[in-house]
Amino acid sequence: MSVDMNTIISLCKRRGFIFQSSEIYGGLGSVWDYGPLGTELKNNVKRLWWKSMVYQRDDIEGLDAAILMHPNVWKTSGHVAGFKDMLVDCKSCKKRFRQDLLKEKKCPECKGELTEPRSFNLMFKTFVGALESGANEVYLRPETAQGIFVNFKNILAGSRKKLPFGVAQIGKAFRNEITTGNFTFRSREFEQMELEYFTRPEESDKWFKYWVNERFEWYKRFGIKKENIKLREHGKEELAHYAKSCYDIEFRFPMGWSELEGIAHRSDFDLREHSKISGQKLSYFDEETKKEIIPHVVEPSGGVDRAVLAFLMDAYSAEKVRGEKRALLSFHKALAPVKVAVLPLLRNRPEIVKLAKEIHKDLMGDYKVSYDATASIGRLYRRQDEIGTLYCVTVDVESLDDKKVTVRDRDTMKQERIGVDRLKEYIRVKLNGL
Ligand code: GAP
Repeated sequence: MSVDMNTIISLCKRRGFIFQSSEIYGGLGSVWDYGPLGTELKNNVKRLWWKSMVYQRDDIEGLDAAILMHPNVWKTSGHVAGFKDMLVDCKSCKKRFRQDLLKEKKCPECKGELTEPRSFNLMFKTFVGALESGANEVYLRPETAQGIFVNFKNILAGSRKKLPFGVAQIGKAFRNEITTGNFTFRSREFEQMELEYFTRPEESDKWFKYWVNERFEWYKRFGIKKENIKLREHGKEELAHYAKSCYDIEFRFPMGWSELEGIAHRSDFDLREHSKISGQKLSYFDEETKKEIIPHVVEPSGGVDRAVLAFLMDAYSAEKVRGEKRALLSFHKALAPVKVAVLPLLRNRPEIVKLAKEIHKDLMGDYKVSYDATASIGRLYRRQDEIGTLYCVTVDVESLDDKKVTVRDRDTMKQERIGVDRLKEYIRVKLNGL
C-alpha cells in the first residue's frame, strides 16, 4: 500500500472531501459528512454503479425504498435474533469490546477483569408516532436489501420482468458498530449499493459466479489496482445466516486486507421467509414449466463509502516534479469530482479575468467546473492536481489576441492551444459522454 490513512484523512479534511460529523461539538463517533468535493466523488461512484447496473443492461430495474420499515421485516429477515455482537465490559476502565476480536481474556487496555459476554443488537431503534412505547418501536434499516424483497411482488407486477432479473438500490443503512476507527471504513451511518438478482434455482450457481467476476472487474475498470484487490471465499463458519455461499471482494486498506463488497448466494431464504410470515405469495410463475417457483437470489452488496475510500487511496500518488512535491489524485475520468478548472494567468488584468469568467460560465451545466484566481499559476495547477481535476484551462495575455486558451491534461501534463469557440466541444469529446 503506497499511502497511509493519515495522509488521506488530512487531504480529505483540507480539501473538503470528508469531515467528521458535528465537529464543532467535538464530533459524533464514526459518523462522517461529505464536503463539496467528497459529495461530487460519492455521487460519481453511485452514478457509475447505477449506469453499470441499470442503464447498460435490460435485466435490472431500480428501487428507492424507505429507511423505516415494518418491524416484522427485521424479525423475518433474522436481524432481530441474529444481527448481534457479543460484547464484554472491563470492570476497571469500563471500556467495551467485541469478544470475538479479543486475543486474551483480560482488558486489552488496562488488563482489568472482563464481564461475561452479553449480546448487543447492532440495529438502531426509534419510534413512529407520538408514543415512545415498545409497540411503536421501529428500526433504521441495517441493509437496503430487505426493501427489495418486500417489494418483490410490486416490482414484478409493474415491470413484468422474466427470470433472471435484478433490482438495484442505493441508499443509507445504519449499524450501531462497536469496533469503529479506520476513518469511514466502519461507519454507523453509511450507504450501500445493492443488487438482488433473482434467478431460477437451477441457474443460481451460474449467476453467482457471473456476479462475483463482474463486480471484481468493475473495481479494476474504474481505478483499483490489481495488486490491491482480491477475492476471498467465506468459510462455512463465517457465512451470514441467510447465505449459502459468499465471496468478499477485499481491498488492501492500510489496516490490512478488508471487505469492500460481499457477493452472497442467498438462495430462496428471504422470499420464502417473508412469504411464510406475511402470508403473501412471493413466487414467480414460470411459463416454461408452468410451475410457481420461489426464485433464488444472488446479491452483490457494496459499500459506497468503502468504494470512495478505496478509489481515493488508489488514485493518490506524490512525486517530485522539478524539486517540488506534486500530490496527484489520478481518478478515472468518470470519478474525478471536478472535470475542468478555468484559471486566469494574471488575476489583476481585468480583460483576462473577464474572458476567463465568460469561459467558466460557458462550460458550466453538465459537470463540475471550477474557477480559481487566488494564486500563481504554478500553485493553481498543484491545487487542481491534488483533487484530480482532469483539465485546466488557462487564459493568458495571448488569449486576448488569438482567442485561444491553453488546455493542460492532468495525466500527461501536456498543454494544447485550443480556440475558445471550440473549447466546449473539445472537452465534450474528451469526456466522451460523461
Ligand atoms: N445485504 C447484505 C449486507 O448488508 P454486509 O456484508 O453486511 O452485507 C455489505 O454489507 C457492504 O456494506 C459491505 O461489503 C461494506 O462495503 C458495506 N458496509 C457494511 N457495514 C459497513 C459499515 N459499518 N460502514 C461502512 N460500510 C459498511
